Amino acid sequence: LGVSGESLSDQVHQNPPHLITKAEKTVQLSCSHTINGYRIILWYQQLKGNSALNLIGYVNYNAPTTEDQYKNQFSIGGNGAESSTINITLKREHVGTTAIYYCAASKAQC
Ligand SMILES: *[C@@H]1O[C@H](CO)[C@@H](O)[C@H](O)[C@H]1NC(C)=O
Repeated sequence: LGVSGESLSDQVHQNPPHLITKAEKTVQLSCSHTINGYRIILWYQQLKGNSALNLIGYVNYNAPTTEDQYKNQFSIGGNGAESSTINITLKREHVGTTAIYYCAASKAQC
């Protein structure tokens, strides 16, 4: 919520809404925001059938960080003050799985 109480979520955009990929292929998702002063974009994964939101990593200004267990599948780029991309490589052992990816914008250090 913003200072005045309005929602900021309509200032965060993600693309594409859906995609399907194949083993060993890399796809890219993007996220952008227009919230003044926010400089971190975080990426989360929610596996189908599981309510947990797993933090994959984030970009603080132009410094990306990916959690160790995700480094072989995900690569984060961009600038948290504006937009970020995440490249996702589908490993063979994950073929047939479905996940939702969320991005979030933040002003504070994680
Ligand atoms: C994502 O993949 C694209 C196309 O292969 C590449 O140009 C870009 O540098 C990659 N981004 C990251 C953050 O690895």
